Amino acid sequence: MILLNPGPVNVSERVRRALLEPDICHRESECSDLLADIRQKLLQAFVPDNESDYTAILLTGSGTAAVEAALLSSVPLGKRVMVINNGVYGQRLWSMACTQRLGGVEFRLKWGEAPDPEKVLLALRQHKEVHTVAMVHHETTLGFMNPAEKIAEIADGLNRVFLLDSVSGLGGEALDIATPHMYMVASAAQKCIQGFPGVAFVIVRKGFMESIKKYPKRNWYLNLANYYEEQERGTVPFTPAVQVYYAFREALQELLDEGVANRCARFRGYATTIRKRMVSLGVNAVLPSEYQSNTLTAFHLPEDISYSSLHDQLKDAGYVIYAGQGEMESKIFRVANIGALEEGNITGFLDAFEVVLKKGCGST
Ligand SMILES: Cc1ncc(COP(=O)(O)O)c(C=O)c1O
Repeated sequence: MILLNPGPVNVSERVRRALLEPDICHRESECSDLLADIRQKLLQAFVPDNESDYTAILLTGSGTAAVEAALLSSVPLGKRVMVINNGVYGQRLWSMACTQRLGGVEFRLKWGEAPDPEKVLLALRQHKEVHTVAMVHHETTLGFMNPAEKIAEIADGLNRVFLLDSVSGLGGEALDIATPHMYMVASAAQKCIQGFPGVAFVIVRKGFMESIKKYPKRNWYLNLANYYEEQERGTVPFTPAVQVYYAFREALQELLDEGVANRCARFRGYATTIRKRMVSLGVNAVLPSEYQSNTLTAFHLPEDISYSSLHDQLKDAGYVIYAGQGEMESKIFRVANIGALEEGNITGFLDAFEVVLKKGCGST
């Protein structure tokens, strides 16, 4: 089955085989070595030449665990959070902040609307209580690229901390983490890095990590300082998903072998193939091209075709597409193009799509 959902993705045989490494005890040196290796490869991949200024903290869990750990660990006593919310995952960030009574400013926009940097600046000037500015890099809701670097620069210019949810972006979308403005980036294994679900991580600027250690603990299991201190000692606070970590290490080596820029370009190439063919079939993308990511495209559902019928017929042909969310659920479909795919998988999908489209499938 070819997965064209935005993760979990198809992995390579090389990554799958890594699951079969020997059983180990998580309190033994083999596990310490595995963790150290993964942390080092993360820095090599995402902050090359600046590895000594950053740390990578591993968590067993999905991307949301890393995002929540980063957000709740980043706020000193009495301070608040501003969330730029222009999609489902921005909304999730805001809900996390509100659940912990940390919400200060919800910078709410329509889905697919870019934040105006001037307005963000103004809002931050008005809200001195805001310490952390959080946003999503690639808003998977519509495949929308947020101007992360620009907003990071504004937040840092006003001495605020910038946190990025790059769960669906890192490894597939260009991102310069090693600027002075980016404090924390949360992501996970099962999307652009082409690993299995079950391991997530936060890349944090070391100087800021030292500050975090002094902040109040707002949660227990997902407290980032706790993970950091243990991992710096070569240990783990809780039992990690060891076999998934083996596969993650292999996926990171595979990413380093391919090169992050080449991976981004490969995904961009697949997306271009998909978008061109959809145009020729009269199927329209939801977003204008300047906001589209390398990794996912949201399309308007063609008339007279329900999502479930389209999905089921494509699945019968061997391809899994993805539904819209919330208010878009019955109006759009999404096609991601990440994972251990080849151009032939993409053209195979497009051929199958064309057959379904020409047949017409009515609503079910
Ligand atoms: C931008 C973004 N953030 C967070 C998540 C949540 O990730 P997970 O399902 O791994 O918890 C996703 C999942 O698709 C996402 O796309």
